[in-house]
Amino acid sequence: MSASEHQAAEALARGELVLLPTETVYGLAADAGDARAVAAIFEAKGRPRFNPLIAHVADATEAEAIAVFDGPARRLAEAFWPGPLTIVAPVRDRERVCDLARAGLDSVAVRVPGHARARAVISAFGRPVVAPSANRSGRPSPTTFADAVEETGFAAAAAVDGGPCAVGVESTVVSVLDGRVAVLRPGAVTREEIEALIGPLDSGGEGHRSPGRMAVHYAPDSPVRINAEAAGEGEILLGFGPHVGDSRWSLSPTGDLREAAANLFRRFREADREKPAGIAVSPVPAEGLGEAINDRLRRAAGFVG
Ligand code: TXA
Ligand code: MG
Repeated sequence: MSASEHQAAEALARGELVLLPTETVYGLAADAGDARAVAAIFEAKGRPRFNPLIAHVADATEAEAIAVFDGPARRLAEAFWPGPLTIVAPVRDRERVCDLARAGLDSVAVRVPGHARARAVISAFGRPVVAPSANRSGRPSPTTFADAVEETGFAAAAAVDGGPCAVGVESTVVSVLDGRVAVLRPGAVTREEIEALIGPLDSGGEGHRSPGRMAVHYAPDSPVRINAEAAGEGEILLGFGPHVGDSRWSLSPTGDLREAAANLFRRFREADREKPAGIAVSPVPAEGLGEAINDRLRRAAGFVG
């Protein structure tokens, strides 16, 4: 049963965990300033403690209360919030986003989610809310209420049903540190959109790293084979584009990247339930949203991104 925004906010205030819908994927949320609650998130997900969490806030003013934004960070926030962009910037408030939530770093990841119910919960609670994807560590992120409940519902005192996630892949993580802007995790906001706003991006470097970008991640139980031309013996083929494999399993029969992103993790889960010999995936173009889709596919297949 779905909790109301008010019930969810009360659970957060009691130091309990909440399943929170966002436009990208479902999150497992807690009070960002409560180290015990944050520890319970790491425990429920089986997540290594060196991997920091994203603090979700209701608007850009609240973001600047916990992080130090320069010009480019402000421009990114104005252009893409509310929405699927996470900004990593120097931390300003080490109490409202506790050390454990930041994995002890001097930076903090912040985002204003595009989903109205997520913002309603955060506003009702009144402080930053950390929310990693609600999957158990290493598995595909949940993009429906039922999948979120199945993954980590056991650890949540309240679960808010926000319907199926419109975007289906996680937010783009961008670091804005020392006057340099770099993409740490490709996501729903594309590199092209970001560069159109602030010019060519940095390739990253010292300090511009995401501790949590493990090689094997987002993986279903069945082995995943990417850039496949056809299904092998006992495999399910997730196609892309017209007339590729069984359309029931297609990421997008019309070859639409938005549709493919929205379907990706859901298809992984559905295919897994059939216990196939493997999951084969057709080639997906690399540009635009395709960068995030290919990143998740490579990691699901066990390649370093
Ligand atoms: O779309 C999303 O971002 C979803 C929804 C629920 O908001 N959340 C999500 O959180 O994907 P999570 O914890 O699964 O991924 C957060 C990513 C990790 O790769 C982590 O290493 C990185 O953000 N990250 C967090 N804080 C960071 C920091 N201070 N510096 C560098 N990377 C950071
Ligand atoms: Mg995740």
